[in-house]
This record gives sequence, structure tokens and C-alpha cells, in this order.
Amino acid sequence: MPTSTLPSSAASERNKDPILDALRPLLPEQGKALEIGSGTGQHAAYFAAALPGWLWQPSDMDKELFEAIAAHARLQEAANVQPAIELDVRTNPWPLPAKAQFDLIFSANMLHIASWICCPGLMQGAARHLTADGLLVTYGPYLEQDVPTAPSNLAFDADLRQRNASWGIRQLADVEKEAGRAGLQLRQRISLPANNLLLVFSR
Ligand SMILES: C[S@@+](CC[C@H](N)C(=O)[O-])C[C@H]1O[C@@H](n2cnc3c(N)ncnc32)[C@H](O)[C@@H]1O
Repeated sequence: MPTSTLPSSAASERNKDPILDALRPLLPEQGKALEIGSGTGQHAAYFAAALPGWLWQPSDMDKELFEAIAAHARLQEAANVQPAIELDVRTNPWPLPAKAQFDLIFSANMLHIASWICCPGLMQGAARHLTADGLLVTYGPYLEQDVPTAPSNLAFDADLRQRNASWGIRQLADVEKEAGRAGLQLRQRISLPANNLLLVFSR
């Protein structure tokens, strides 16, 4: 795929460094990561290139993105990005070997651009496929009871709901509840630019 026609997200370019800076101190030198909803693959390529001890498995429910994911990995010369796999978090169980285990399951900007059922799907799948010390890390905007929602996030939420009635920025408390049902606890809430949060869950 020529670089000129390579699907790219401007938001991913903006947020990749803040996310990487927040991820680094959480991660050991080496490990296996599964990314959910990889989209264009910019995060996969950038993080894998910056974390050479990690094997990065991108995935998405949309197979049409796989060529772009591979092309971004080639551009970053990230040989530790595996070919993307088709994974829809609503599938139960996920289409992975039963014993497949990951030290990190990472998902950016998926929960609000997907129906709510994807949240329990993400939590249950992550609980099944995380190693004992593994981390589930999500990134994106969230609504919080005690934190005033930024006007930009309110507008984004209204826009999402207009585009698809089942989409919308999720309440952090609801996400935490689903994590708990799956046996995962919220361990860290890290504020990132543009009113986004990095959430860290583990057993
Ligand atoms: C807004 S994009 C985010 C892409 C990338 N993670 C980023 O932050 O730039 C949301 C992605 O989630 C994927 N997605 C939506 N619903 C999904 C599901 N049920 N299972 C897996 N992926 C899903 C979409 O195909 C899309 O690639």
C-alpha cells in the first residue's frame, strides 16, 4: 500500500507519545501484547518500535484494516508486530487458542465507538487471556460522577450518539463495574491530554 493512500488517524499521531509515556513505566522490558480495535495500526507500529522486547499482536473486527496495520508496521520497521487477527470482542470466547496469554491487553478509543455489549466482551475476554500479573489498559474519554465533563467531550458524546444510538462516551463507574464482574480491578487512572484517560486494570 503506497504511503500516500495509507489510512492514518490524526488523533493517533497526536496521542501516541502521551500514551507511550504513560505505558512505559507500567511495563516490564519484555512481554506479549494483544491490541483490541487496532484501527489503522499506528499505535501498534509506534509502540512496538519503541518497545523492542515486546511482541505486539494487533487485532480488529474489520479485516479491511489489516493491510494498513501491516503497512504502518513496515514504515516503523517494527518487525515485532504480528500480522493482525480478526477479533470481535463480542465473540465469546475470543477466537484465540484457549491457553493464549498476554502480559498486556491494550485498547484505545474502542469502548465509546461500539455498543455497550463490547465493554463486558472486552472485560471477560481480557480476564480469560491475561497472565496472572497482566494488565488491561484502555485509553479514551470517559464520564465521571465527580469530575465535570469537558465541553469538548460533551459535544463529542452528542455527536457519537447522533451517528449511532448505541455509541457514546462511557461512565467510568459502569466500566469499572463490568471489570469487577469479570474479576478485574481498576488500579490506576491516568489523565492524558485532551480530556482522555488511560485506565489500568488487573486481577
Ligand atoms: C475509533 S477506532 C480506534 C482505532 C485505534 N485504536 C486508535 O485509537 O486510533 C475504533 C476501532 O475499534 C474497532 N471495533 C469496533 N467495535 C469492535 C468490536 N466489537 N471488536 C473489535 N474491534 C472493534 C473498529 O473497527 C475500529 O478500528
